[in-house]
Amino acid sequence: MTKVAPAGALVGHIAVPGDKSISHRAVLVGASGDGETRVRGFGRSAATESTIAAVRALGVDVAEEDVDMLSIAGRGLHGLRAPDAPIDCGNSGTLLRLLAGIVAGQEGRYELTGDESLRRRPVDRVAQPLERMGARIETAGGLPPLVVEGGALAGIEYRLPVASAQVKSAVLLAGVLARSGTTTVAEPLPTRDHTELMLEAAGARIRRGPASVSVEPGAGLRLPEVRVPGDFSAAAPFVVAATLLPGSDLTIHDIGVNPRRTGLLDVLARMGARITEFNRRRWAGEPVADLQVQSASLVATAVGPDEVPRLVDELPLFALAAAAAHGESEVRGARELRVKETDRVETVTNALRALGVRIQARDDGFGVRGVPSRPKGGGMSAAGDHRIAMLGAVAGLVSREGVEVGGAEAVAISFPGFFELLDSVTHR
Ligand code: S3P
Repeated sequence: MTKVAPAGALVGHIAVPGDKSISHRAVLVGASGDGETRVRGFGRSAATESTIAAVRALGVDVAEEDVDMLSIAGRGLHGLRAPDAPIDCGNSGTLLRLLAGIVAGQEGRYELTGDESLRRRPVDRVAQPLERMGARIETAGGLPPLVVEGGALAGIEYRLPVASAQVKSAVLLAGVLARSGTTTVAEPLPTRDHTELMLEAAGARIRRGPASVSVEPGAGLRLPEVRVPGDFSAAAPFVVAATLLPGSDLTIHDIGVNPRRTGLLDVLARMGARITEFNRRRWAGEPVADLQVQSASLVATAVGPDEVPRLVDELPLFALAAAAAHGESEVRGARELRVKETDRVETVTNALRALGVRIQARDDGFGVRGVPSRPKGGGMSAAGDHRIAMLGAVAGLVSREGVEVGGAEAVAISFPGFFELLDSVTHR
């Protein structure tokens, strides 16, 4: 149990760990590349350490030169070695689903599994397209473990039934490893495109349409260096806390601002937030900027289905911003929240209700009645979910009485130094 006391303001300059999505991809693409891949700004966390362990189990040498600096000795597109034991993907859905796409294109039998939370998350969404490409796959009724017998794949055209970057990425990676045929993935809504950008940087033949992406089977990938931007999702708790705490002035440096990730900034902007983006540049195709966040009073807004993929991991924090905004806010079209690390419609609603927020769960989202004053506070449980633990911490700062976060150590899944960094900029 960690108690987070009410705060005055957040003031200062910070940087957050490297992007989790891009860190996973750098290790996986590096492992499948020709030659060495150096990863700078690797976002080290329990989730991304699972990815290092997974590629090592597949015979890849990974040198950890520093906490945030890796060197990966790529084994080429089809050079992975099938291990005897199952591969433990820990808590990471991204690892399990992307790796499924990679091993589907390799000879051998691979069993992918994970922790209790991961073993409750759907994998039929990757099994179906990979089977169509020629892999043999077994699941436990649509859930992990996922047993893949890989081999020679053929490209397919695939329309994603749900907007999921993980599924899109699994199919694209399998498409690069395929022995023949173009692979095209059409998506119902734009999801994060880190895989496309990284494959492009590694020399894959990628074609992007307005709502689809195609890849040709690759002659080989070469990714000498990846510089990982700061994780927007790790910056988001600081963005929301600084917005809500009067007198705050916080600058967050070197953040990935890929437009397919920054839906929270657009939503907060229309609620009246004061967030400025400056010093824009690109690292290996990914847009990067510094963000200055000053406190503001907010008005309610509605987040609709089209917007959801651009802030899917930030919707718990949106709920807290909405609680402090004037009027009634809602999220619709976010059924995917129910199959994240926890059922986040339930875990967000339970956590915030316990702290005095008027929030109502709905089938595909939630409704929040905002009051422009601090929520009371109290105790809540992270339920083993890193994003709910960070939500509880921010709720504590903006509350009247503080918040006891049960299971706060879950932050280490994506952001091990979260509490220390938060402390360093908190003025009581
Ligand atoms: C991720 C995609 C999203 C997101 C997850 C990371 C990725 O999941 O929620 O945290 O790195 O591709 P879905 O693809 O299941 O929506």
